[in-house]
Amino acid sequence: MNILVINGSPKGEQSNSYQLTNAFLRGIKESDSEAAIRRRTVCQMDIRPCLGCFSCWNRTPGKCCMEDDMAQVIQDLLWADITVWSFPLYYYTVPGGLKNLIDRQLPMLLPFMEEKEGQAGNGGHPSRYDMSGKRTVLISTCGFYTAEGNYDGVYSLFDHFCGRENYTAIFCGQGELFRVRELSAVTSAYLSVVEQAGREYMSGGISVQSRERLAQLLLPRETFEACADASWGIEKETDGTGKEGGSKKTESDTLKFTRQMAALYRKESWPGKDFVLEMCYTDEEETYQILLGKDGSHVCTDGSLTADTRIETPVTVWRSIAAGEIRGDEAMMQGLYRVQGDFNLMLKWDEYFGGSHAQTRQQAEASAQKNTDMNILLIPWIVFWVAVSISRQPGCIIGILTCALVPLAYYRHRKTVYDVFGGALVTGFSVAMLAGVSETWMLPVSYLVFGLMWLSSCPGKRIPLTMSST
Ligand SMILES: Cc1cc2nc3c(=O)[nH]c(=O)nc-3n(C[C@H](O)[C@H](O)[C@H](O)COP(=O)(O)O)c2cc1C
Repeated sequence: MNILVINGSPKGEQSNSYQLTNAFLRGIKESDSEAAIRRRTVCQMDIRPCLGCFSCWNRTPGKCCMEDDMAQVIQDLLWADITVWSFPLYYYTVPGGLKNLIDRQLPMLLPFMEEKEGQAGNGGHPSRYDMSGKRTVLISTCGFYTAEGNYDGVYSLFDHFCGRENYTAIFCGQGELFRVRELSAVTSAYLSVVEQAGREYMSGGISVQSRERLAQLLLPRETFEACADASWGIEKETDGTGKEGGSKKTESDTLKFTRQMAALYRKESWPGKDFVLEMCYTDEEETYQILLGKDGSHVCTDGSLTADTRIETPVTVWRSIAAGEIRGDEAMMQGLYRVQGDFNLMLKWDEYFGGSHAQTRQQAEASAQKNTDMNILLIPWIVFWVAVSISRQPGCIIGILTCALVPLAYYRHRKTVYDVFGGALVTGFSVAMLAGVSETWMLPVSYLVFGLMWLSSCPGKRIPLTMSST
């Protein structure tokens, strides 16, 4: 299998989107270790804008009049079985450099008017080459909190270019988070899902389950936007009319970091009274206070508040903790930082600032890779049917106990609605039989209910009785 990656980010290898692409390729490689991968980075190539002369259609059919790297790209496109287009969203479409490359594919088309199957239906040109069986993947991040509604231009372009339904897209909002080390627990979990999507893509298609996880926001909108605003290190100003007028001085990295930490505060965890956390960065000799209130957080830079909890730490240590590289409790035991005042905040840190400390990166990756298992659904039913057939009362108790043990399986597997619903039904049948309902009709009813549940799960692309796609 030949795979061509076209990296259209002007940032080259530093691209956020490219991190997703690399995760996807890891998944592909796991499924097909023989896959050959060619990578082309648009910003490192000489690809000039199309002159619109149509030489490639009349004077020199199939050959552009300009001699630059595009000839090689066309060879690569013909070589590839799968082309992965990796790019950021720029002004609701692809970046200019990549658009040039797309335009320069004109020599690959014949000039005649002909609609290809699956195309949008308003005009097209046949391919000069046999492109049948070739597959296309689009991977992109954008800066807004969601990808939804922002990619209309890209969908429209590729619907015409590849044909509707003829490509697979992974579009992710909050793309700039992929470069924030302190949020690597969140982004690594997402990258694990992309990797899983790569594996699934090679074995038939991305599952509904992975699709749903890819569509989830990395951070809630409000938290993300507060974090994004803080990341510029520029304070918002308001002019006399109340409209946002401009911006003030550039802030130090430490203050930026503190503001981003404050942005992760979950106001739902407000304990009924405002709380002041003082961060004293010993290596930078900077101290800031974060007021944690009912309506959100506020960073105070003049030290005018009275601290409830004071943390004295080198900023490097706190950043490593925030990045999930070292555990907060272990770092404290090792004396890497000191806490003064109310210690309660430390005990409830994850409740207050879930985004940064809730999980280590390994935990996040592990949870992203959890799969469903149909045995979790089947075992309680089978145990119930067999045990009740042998002996009614102990059988019912065994049925209930089996259902009670099922949640233990969720440490290793993802639960589905069928697991939960099935467990509740088995418990219900067992309790009803313990209460005296006869098994002569209760058992057939249970077979019927199970059959109905199976039937109801059949429509769609899912494997019946699971949330997994076929
Ligand atoms: C010139 C420019 C235009 C952008 N336009 C958009 C946009 O229309 N919508 C959006 O959500 N993000 C937009 N962004 C943000 C990028 O899509 C976002 O930062 C992305 O994660 C960058 O990905 P990369 O690191 O792969 O280049 C824009 C960024 C730049 C520099």
